[in-house]
Amino acid sequence: MCGIVGYVGTRRVVPILLEGLRRLEYRGYDSAGLVYYFEGKLERYRAKGKLANLETVVDDYIGTASSTGIGHTRWATHGAPTELNAHPHTDCSGELVVVHNGIIENYHSLRTELTAKGHIFASETDTEVLAHLIEDCLDGDLVAAVREALARVDGSYAIGVLWAKEPEMLVAARNHSPLVMGVGENACYIASDIPALLPYTRDVIFLDDMEMAVLKKGEYEILQVEDGTALEKPISTIDWNAGMAEKAGFKHFMLKEIFEQPQAILNTVSGRIVPETGIVELPEVGLDDQAIKKIERIALVACGTSWHAALVAKYWIEKWVGIPVEVDIASEFRYRHLLVDDRVLTISISQSGETADTLAGIRRAGAKGSRILTICNVVGSTMTREADGIIYTHAGPEIGVASTKAFTSQLAALFLLTLYLGQVRETMDAAIRKEYGSALISMCGLIEEELPRLQGEIRTLIEKYYDARDFLFVGRGVNFPIALEGALKLKEISYIHAEGYAAGELKHGPIALIDKDMPVLALVPKDDVYQKTVSNVEEIKARQGRLVLIGTAGDEHLSSLTEDVLYLPEVLPDLNPLLYTIPAQLLSYEIANRRGCDVDQPRNLAKSVTVE
Ligand code: M6R
Repeated sequence: MCGIVGYVGTRRVVPILLEGLRRLEYRGYDSAGLVYYFEGKLERYRAKGKLANLETVVDDYIGTASSTGIGHTRWATHGAPTELNAHPHTDCSGELVVVHNGIIENYHSLRTELTAKGHIFASETDTEVLAHLIEDCLDGDLVAAVREALARVDGSYAIGVLWAKEPEMLVAARNHSPLVMGVGENACYIASDIPALLPYTRDVIFLDDMEMAVLKKGEYEILQVEDGTALEKPISTIDWNAGMAEKAGFKHFMLKEIFEQPQAILNTVSGRIVPETGIVELPEVGLDDQAIKKIERIALVACGTSWHAALVAKYWIEKWVGIPVEVDIASEFRYRHLLVDDRVLTISISQSGETADTLAGIRRAGAKGSRILTICNVVGSTMTREADGIIYTHAGPEIGVASTKAFTSQLAALFLLTLYLGQVRETMDAAIRKEYGSALISMCGLIEEELPRLQGEIRTLIEKYYDARDFLFVGRGVNFPIALEGALKLKEISYIHAEGYAAGELKHGPIALIDKDMPVLALVPKDDVYQKTVSNVEEIKARQGRLVLIGTAGDEHLSSLTEDVLYLPEVLPDLNPLLYTIPAQLLSYEIANRRGCDVDQPRNLAKSVTVE
């Protein structure tokens, strides 16, 4: 939430800041701003709304020979999304500017105190307090002033600070909000996320909580915020490239990412399973065989779409490994009475590795003695640095706010984990493991083949449904979480009210909603609960619900129930979630696109939820 970017070097700074912000816009897009140092002064530009509005404002300054600056794209927490509340914020003199991602929890008392001392505030934000607090502590040494100010702050922050009197210095710090430093030739960068750095450098340093960086042209220092101790931190080289975070001819990132799923799944499974033997190799889980055999319970913790992946994994792990699995929404897990100890393996699932609630959840479980495994897409993210073991999904950067390839690659990683646990604990017959392992690998080719056909059929189908007011999604067993995921996708990008239900649950309330105007998408593969689901579909039909069915190729009974059937090839039933997700994603995408919605940047949302 909120993206910050900063640069100190020798090149013109405005294009670098704008490109960085463009690549971070998925983090928040209700306003944007930047500041650069030029001829002894800090020049600040801000605009309400999308980055395009800021670009119009700074258009004339693109070529300005300034090579120090910071920028920000905002997702509002404190204060409405107005130009006045847009970052960067300044102190009273206008000589010190701050960009911030996070929440300063004690901003109210600090603001009262600073106002009493004569500071004049111009915005309603918590961030502006930081600018005035640093000003208040400033006595010729910016680094000391930032440290002193941060010692008084409660909450989360990733910040960038510039001071007109130190024109070639950028000070950055983090606590509970992500911040990565880029190291280039005669240049240093900061950014909330890696895609902003990719056009310039792939050499990065991940700052940890309560660390700060002092950046100058081609040199930097990293310090502890608390006592100013200098730190040596390793430089990591990122294997993503700049093109991976581009649309590559697709209308939206979401559509591109839907079509990237075969490759993303392949990247997740590659090198981790031997197709000839079915042997799964996952040394990165960070647990030896003895430790795996001692696990008594698994706690899966995640938010949003990642939580849906966790719900699918519960079916798989309990069936094939026999370990009881609890699945929690992280914002509940972090505050509820936790019965977790060293006999429990806690697994966090997160695309970004920065989701505040999920992070807090694993920290709490870890403090109670649980081992932490994370399934994550972003290399070097906070979650991966705090976990005992990591399974990277390697899906590549996901930019669309609606999660697609991250989800199916999480499913692939969780299925691999299931096979691995079954192998170590000897709960899964080797022949079955081999069959499932090969089937998982072949999902990539299968999805690749099905995607164009499905998109064509769905484009036609949605003409009947794109103006619906509500939508229900239903499924059973391992496909019930896919119904939840389908509903989430549709509501977040098209703003159609949508709910997912276990098909068997309809009679306990939701069936009251069904009439001739209610579209219901039912997932009806030929699996062991097929007949039960078909009965539920008949009940919907009897009440005149508008049925869209997704089922197994050749199942003609479905066509007798409705003319709107999407057929998918038959796969091993446990793998249906990977396949049935695809039409649900495409349906949401095509409906949102048809309604003219802002698919990649839906209202009120941000990609990385780094505040609770
Ligand atoms: O980065 P994470 O996987 O931890 O993010 C979790 C959710 O915020 C995320 O999945 C969200 O629900 C997506 N917008 C769904 O498309």
